[in-house]
Amino acid sequence: MVVGPKKVIQQVPSRISLMKIQNFTAHKRQSFVTVVYGTLFIIAGIISFAINPAEIYTNWFVDIKEGKFVYKMWKEPTYEIFSDIYIFNYTNVPEFLSGKDKQLRVDEIGPYKFQEIRTNENISIDKDRGVMTMNPVIKLKFLPDKSVGQYSDPIIAPNIALVAISTLLADQMGYFANAAAYYSITALGSKLFLNMNAGEFFWGYNDPLVKVASTLLPGWIDFGKVGILDRFYAQRRDKVEVELGNRNKRYSINTWNDSPGLPEQGYTTLNESILCNRLKGTYEGLMITPRYNVSNPLPIFRKQACRVYPFRFLEERMSDMGFPISRFKMDESAFNKSSPFACTCTKNCLPDGFVDIGSCYYGFPIALSKPHFLDADPEQQKMFVGMHPDPEAHASHVDIETSIGVPLSLRTNMQVNIAVRASGGNPSIRPVKDKVLPLMWLSLKK
Ligand SMILES: *[C@@H]1O[C@H](CO)[C@@H](O)[C@H](O)[C@H]1NC(C)=O
Ligand SMILES: *[C@@H]1O[C@H](CO)[C@@H](O)[C@H](O)[C@H]1NC(C)=O
Ligand SMILES: *[C@@H]1O[C@H](CO)[C@@H](O)[C@H](O)[C@H]1NC(C)=O
Ligand SMILES: *[C@@H]1O[C@H](CO)[C@@H](O)[C@H](O)[C@H]1NC(C)=O
Ligand SMILES: *[C@@H]1O[C@H](CO)[C@@H](O)[C@H](O)[C@H]1NC(C)=O
Repeated sequence: MVVGPKKVIQQVPSRISLMKIQNFTAHKRQSFVTVVYGTLFIIAGIISFAINPAEIYTNWFVDIKEGKFVYKMWKEPTYEIFSDIYIFNYTNVPEFLSGKDKQLRVDEIGPYKFQEIRTNENISIDKDRGVMTMNPVIKLKFLPDKSVGQYSDPIIAPNIALVAISTLLADQMGYFANAAAYYSITALGSKLFLNMNAGEFFWGYNDPLVKVASTLLPGWIDFGKVGILDRFYAQRRDKVEVELGNRNKRYSINTWNDSPGLPEQGYTTLNESILCNRLKGTYEGLMITPRYNVSNPLPIFRKQACRVYPFRFLEERMSDMGFPISRFKMDESAFNKSSPFACTCTKNCLPDGFVDIGSCYYGFPIALSKPHFLDADPEQQKMFVGMHPDPEAHASHVDIETSIGVPLSLRTNMQVNIAVRASGGNPSIRPVKDKVLPLMWLSLKK
């Protein structure tokens, strides 16, 4: 029979390693320029008065100190995450459209460095059910002084509004509706490629087509301009429930917006769910179950990426502070159709190496891949000059201190693309028909 103190040791790590981790995250923090969080801190400060973290955790954590640490990790994680973003600049558009060049030439520019500020608001604990619920908030803050690229940089990029709306109509409507759309597009003067600056590309450029679409289809497009980051970081009211009571599943997701799965990827019931859309038991990566059994894959859900992505234990390493950490690497096949985590596709399926996340983005044909089409269908790569996939630099991993379940560093890389499908009735996107056009790639780092 195990008595009190012994149980504590079993359940939570020793004080020393916890201190080390706190120092480690503090140390990491200081090695970057201090960034002012602004009002977020004030808001978080007010919330912290409403709940007493010590009281919350006494059910599961006998030691109050550990409870406070865990609470802080969720409310405002002590580490800082940065996002390096690279834009693909299309540099031979006139030559390509005139037929002189057979391939599109893209030139990676950047990085544009952002800080990703992730907090959780309205944290509340249901002691009886042993769960914690919260509203995640995620914000991006541009760091111009740390960036190579600036918002004023002139770029040439595909007209996302035109490509998305044309592809959607091609998918959903017949020839005549597409022909009618073509007349509107021509009348409005929308062009396939646009000159804009990096800031407009991220946060929105005005295209008459979006205004028309948002007026005609108010339930579908509720924004007046299209910007790729603006869409990815649009504030939705999300609610997450995380498991606390069950030690073997602690910190894993129970539900997201009250659902154990992702309806956007076809989730209906747990029984019928597949790894792609089952959120119950996955992790967002803020913390994972202490003493995680590393023989099992680590499924990570990220709302923006609209699917669960598998990571697997690679090796044990030593951290700078002298304690062991476990490296989990994203499955090489994560973006392939052969991956057990791939979503089922019956129509308009993308080539290998692309994950369709259109259902999370108003049906816009947004596709994720690894940067520079790494491990993607070679046919897609051949359509472009300027793709330089690098298995080392473009892979994704996360390093975790598994006894407590704290991620200490990570690098996850993803590219955002737009898939083009054209209808005979609407020739406006014909030059790029059946291509997956790269837009930008992000490297999330801690
Ligand atoms: C993007 O490409 C265009 C066309 O080649 C060029 O004029 C522009 O300077 C490029 N932008 C950047 C930031 O390099
Ligand atoms: C937190 O709760 C308040 C009150 O219900 C709500 O107004 C606010 O939007 C919530 N925060 C988030 C991020 O959803
Ligand atoms: C799910 O499966 C379990 C056991 O296989 C069964 O008892 C349960 O009724 C099923 N639930 C639904 C909603 O089909
Ligand atoms: C860890 O998981 C593997 C595979 O699922 C299993 O075979 C093994 O028994 C587990 N180890 C422990 C200690 O639970
Ligand atoms: C993923 O698909 C690509 C393209 O078909 C292929 O080259 C690669 O070997 C696949 N990778 C894995 C791990 O299955």
